[in-house]
Amino acid sequence: MKVAVFSTKPYDQTFLTQANDEAHAHELTFLETRLNEATAALAKGFEAVCVFVNDQVDALVLEQLAAGGTRVVALRCAGFNNVDLKAAQRLGMKVVRVPAYSPYAVAEHTVALMLTLNRQIHRAYHRIRDGNFALDGLLGFDLRGRTVGVIGTGQIGVEVARIMRGFGCRVLGHAPAPNPEAEALGVEYVSLDELFSLSDIITLHCPLTPETHHLIDANAMAKMKDGVMLINTSRGAIVDTSAVIEGLKSGHIGYLGLDVYEEEGDLFFEDQSNLVLQDDVFARLLTFPNVVITGHQAFFTRNALESIAHTTLGNLTELEESGECENRVAG
Ligand code: NAI
Repeated sequence: MKVAVFSTKPYDQTFLTQANDEAHAHELTFLETRLNEATAALAKGFEAVCVFVNDQVDALVLEQLAAGGTRVVALRCAGFNNVDLKAAQRLGMKVVRVPAYSPYAVAEHTVALMLTLNRQIHRAYHRIRDGNFALDGLLGFDLRGRTVGVIGTGQIGVEVARIMRGFGCRVLGHAPAPNPEAEALGVEYVSLDELFSLSDIITLHCPLTPETHHLIDANAMAKMKDGVMLINTSRGAIVDTSAVIEGLKSGHIGYLGLDVYEEEGDLFFEDQSNLVLQDDVFARLLTFPNVVITGHQAFFTRNALESIAHTTLGNLTELEESGECENRVAG
């Protein structure tokens, strides 16, 4: 299949080319630019586009793609909140994704954020390099015996629960339906309000949907324990960032770990170190000593990239051979 690969970084090219050489014969054209209304024309004549989390795949873009002959949108990620599935359906475009590549990568990064915040690794790193060996301000707490609330207990949530159970934590879960694998690990399912009020650490692993948009807002935070740790490695808009900033200022939110951010589309995945930061909300987040932010890198392990490349190209091969694909979310 002729594929226009948008938002290509050197690592995408490396892993996709390797997987293509090993098991497929697609014609991959790598484009650095993001897919949006201005760049959709670049896909003219390509049967498929391959996109990532911050590519804009709304109705307008899909219409342009369809007019240019594109029939397939292959997401090289799990989440598909950036795709207008109804528009894709209407236009007869198939949308495929990578439902699972390495839940371990995201779960392990989630726990890395928890440990960094708790044991102040981000501050200790700088102190030691500055010859400051004082411990004042680096006080942490034992994870053993603490309560961790996992919102969304699918593939990633269950792995986080497994790790936290290993630390000796009590793990509470909240999801539309309980996951038997989580229950077997000892995860106790509770209402959202109970999870908010009982948890020392709250970690988000649900998808971004109209229902979960700003799930963590001022109202939700009011129900949480003083000094709670909040971790979001799912999707930025699940958290109302301005409300969290107020919570951090008052001290109610004790720690914040983010791998995703509501407005990350304008920031993440690019070197902007020579530019003046224009996002005042993000700039405010950076001023807190108890906030650690990574730039949507939770998925970024060698294992995950290999798996993403294999599944993405496999999806295209399946569609080419049978018109069907088990990882299809629309079309
Ligand atoms: P999954 O589909 O296996 O699990 C999602 C879970 O959320 C399910 O248990 C589902 O029932 C639950 N859920 C749905 N609506 C909910 C609601 N309103 N309240 C509470 N729970 C709800 O998905 P998976 O693979 O575990 O991924 C979770 C999310 O992680 C993805 O949607 C994606 O946004 C994000 N992600 C982030 C990555 C990163 O690099 N930071 C990489 C991969 C995924």
